[in-house]
Amino acid sequence: MTQRLATLITGASSGIGAALAPLFAREPGRVLVLAARRTAPMEALARDLQTRFGAETVVLQSDLEQPGAAGRLLAEIAARDLSVDTLVNNAGYGLTGHFSSMDVTRVTGMMQLNMTALIELTHGVLPAMRARGSGRIMNVASIAAFQPCPNFAAYGASKAFVLSFSEALAIELEKQGITVTAVCPGSTATGFHSVAGSDRSLVARFMDTAETVANEAYKTLQAGERVVVTGLVNKPLPLASRLLPRSMLARITSRLMAPPH
Ligand SMILES: NC(=O)c1ccc[n+]([C@@H]2O[C@H](COP(=O)([O-])OP(=O)(O)OC[C@H]3O[C@@H](n4cnc5c(N)ncnc54)[C@H](OP(=O)(O)O)[C@@H]3O)[C@@H](O)[C@H]2O)c1
Repeated sequence: MTQRLATLITGASSGIGAALAPLFAREPGRVLVLAARRTAPMEALARDLQTRFGAETVVLQSDLEQPGAAGRLLAEIAARDLSVDTLVNNAGYGLTGHFSSMDVTRVTGMMQLNMTALIELTHGVLPAMRARGSGRIMNVASIAAFQPCPNFAAYGASKAFVLSFSEALAIELEKQGITVTAVCPGSTATGFHSVAGSDRSLVARFMDTAETVANEAYKTLQAGERVVVTGLVNKPLPLASRLLPRSMLARITSRLMAPPH
């Protein structure tokens, strides 16, 4: 049986991932695969996408923090005779606070999700993309990628990893018909801040909607561009990160991330 093409969105149960889903659901000829731990919101989203766009959607439960989960997810997709030609690595979360007082297993779990699962999924879909000579990869990083982030240290480092990896991979794949787009959202009104413990921080006062971020991210992917910093107020950040001393940027970020006294 010939494999059908699929778009895989991780972290599709809420926030930016759920807002990206309708944009991909409009694309003809692809099955949409939604993956996250909570299936109920994804089932509801799948029903809505079926009604609005006639989209064929598959919901898969996956805890990408578990070692080997990315490989199991790709095996489940292959078992349905689907081949991922568009990968959206969106699942991720942050942890706010002093690194020294964090439970280290929570930190390593976050790194497993934000970095290792992203690497494993990307590596897993590339052979078929290369064989076809086409593919699209969207990796959701953050504006936290551009400077050290005290009070958000490991999270910021994980997103710097995503940005650096994506930019390098985009060059490696540029002659093979595969695009890689790193999306760097600023503060966005999703479940992110309550999970990260940053809902009382200064950054949480100025938020974009998940739909605004998703629309800009999708347009950038379609244009085949390598990096987008979403939201007008965030656009100067990459330039500022080249012009200002990193210690100064780190101190500013520290204030933005700290809860009010
Ligand atoms: N919101 C912001 O201010 C902001 C800013 C910059 C970058 N980002 C990035 O944007 C991405 C999406 O976050 P969001 O803002 O949309 O937050 P969100 O609403 O909390 O969504 C996070 C998504 O990741 C999934 N996820 C979390 N842990 C997972 C696990 N162990 N296995 C599989 N999926 C898991 C969640 O699903 P389940 O809980 O159902 O598993 C959820 O669908 C993240 O990579 C985040 O770092 C967010």
